[in-house]
Amino acid sequence: MTQEQDRVVIFDTTLRDGEQSPGATMTHTEKLEIASLLDEMGVDIIEAGFPIASEGDFAAVSEIAKNSKNAVICGLARAQLPDIDRCWEAVKHAAQPRIHTFIGTSPLHRAIPNLTMDEMAERIDQTVTHARNLCDNVQWSPMDATRTEADYLCRVVEIAIKAGATTINIPDTVGYTAPRESAALIRMLLERVPGADEIIFATHCHNDLGMATANSLAAVEAGARQIECTINGLGERAGNTALEEVVMALKVRNDIMPFQTGVDSTKLMNISRRVAAVSGFPVQFNKAIVGKNAFAHESGIHQDGMLKNAETFEIMRPEDVGLTETNIVMGKHSGRAALRSKLENLGYELGDNQLKDVFVRFKELADRKKEIYEDDLIALMRTTIDPEEDRIKLVSMRVVCGTEGPQQAEMTLEVDGTEHKTSQTGDGPVDASFNCIKALVSHTARLQLYQVHAVTEGTDAQATVSVRLEEDGRIVTGQSADTDTVVASVRAYVHALNRLLVRREKGGTDKREIHYKDMH
Ligand code: KIV
Ligand code: ZN
Repeated sequence: MTQEQDRVVIFDTTLRDGEQSPGATMTHTEKLEIASLLDEMGVDIIEAGFPIASEGDFAAVSEIAKNSKNAVICGLARAQLPDIDRCWEAVKHAAQPRIHTFIGTSPLHRAIPNLTMDEMAERIDQTVTHARNLCDNVQWSPMDATRTEADYLCRVVEIAIKAGATTINIPDTVGYTAPRESAALIRMLLERVPGADEIIFATHCHNDLGMATANSLAAVEAGARQIECTINGLGERAGNTALEEVVMALKVRNDIMPFQTGVDSTKLMNISRRVAAVSGFPVQFNKAIVGKNAFAHESGIHQDGMLKNAETFEIMRPEDVGLTETNIVMGKHSGRAALRSKLENLGYELGDNQLKDVFVRFKELADRKKEIYEDDLIALMRTTIDPEEDRIKLVSMRVVCGTEGPQQAEMTLEVDGTEHKTSQTGDGPVDASFNCIKALVSHTARLQLYQVHAVTEGTDAQATVSVRLEEDGRIVTGQSADTDTVVASVRAYVHALNRLLVRREKGGTDKREIHYKDMH
């Protein structure tokens, strides 16, 4: 691949490394939706999944490959021939397919498959050659590159280039490196490895020490021309480099980092909200670029300065990232056509039946809440359109609260078409309600996370609740929004349980199991 010297390729791995984060699992439809937003936004390469990991991953990568318009569609494969074949079967449908194959090259990672340095070098040659025989766009990664001995790294990178890799990705798998070191590593490879000027170097950073964005930009300044990143920095542990941060850093500080990306930054806010909604990982309020407070100027001094000249405290305009000044959109008198048009602006294409369902929920919400904001609509969409048929449904509930505990909840759930009713007490209304669910649906899942966020301001604001459950290593997240926090909590719990039932039924290999136990 050749490219202009100042063009930085944006490689998004939200659907692979991001989705690998425990609890961030997305449904098939959600993955297709995010891929289409990434494609529209101008991301150059979408890493759509890990096809050998599960049937679900294979199906998602194949479908995304078929639908892609502009982006290269990439799949991940371990350094094993069946993995690479499976990956090719999925990505080959794309107009521009890519196979990404990897192996851990640091001493700690070499010890896992128990290969000597020579044996590993041979495996790299064999697998990259195999991938290149299938596809003319092949990316190779020495996992844990930043902790691999320099001489060995140069040796294996040279082998991969000779075997036909067109992109060499340098992962900081454990988020250990620092900007100066990240730059030095790329510079060393460019200087020492024969053929390095014929390929593209990529940087793939994790954020364990909070330096992923800085490390990625330092690598670019040293000569890397592809950044691997995720929306909202989603990813295992502290996450990956955040796409929105590198894109905006290159745009705002183009004076000192004269590089271009193909990303339309005005689409950042929308895709950030959508990824937060489908992954169940809310964006922290003070997150750079896409956090709720990133453009809010609360203090008196700031407000005074802002009124006189926005540049006093603002280094980028809210509209540059797609944040509209006021997003009050609708109220109880808004009609169906207005709702459809607003949802289309937010990126939701609805069929007539879906619109009918959403409109009913919208009217119910508008009866309880005077002003409906974009965030309310996004939350509403999350709870209305779930493509998977739910086996458990909330029929009704009632909670009795008072200053004297314990609190009491009554609940009727429909489970596989039959209604069941119970009444339970608990330490607070949410606890009492969750005890009802536990009494009505027998399960051993452990509640790993319970999180409440106000969608907008005001006492009539909707609350978005995330519930993460874990059972036998399977982790699922459920989400719901309602003006009543307890109702939202129950719906989120029920949503998570429904997802767990689907995962139980599908059985087979969990993606995380393959990732952690068998990455080599
Ligand atoms: O962090 C990492 O090393 C990875 C590789 C699979 C590229 O995600
Ligand atoms: Zn990674």
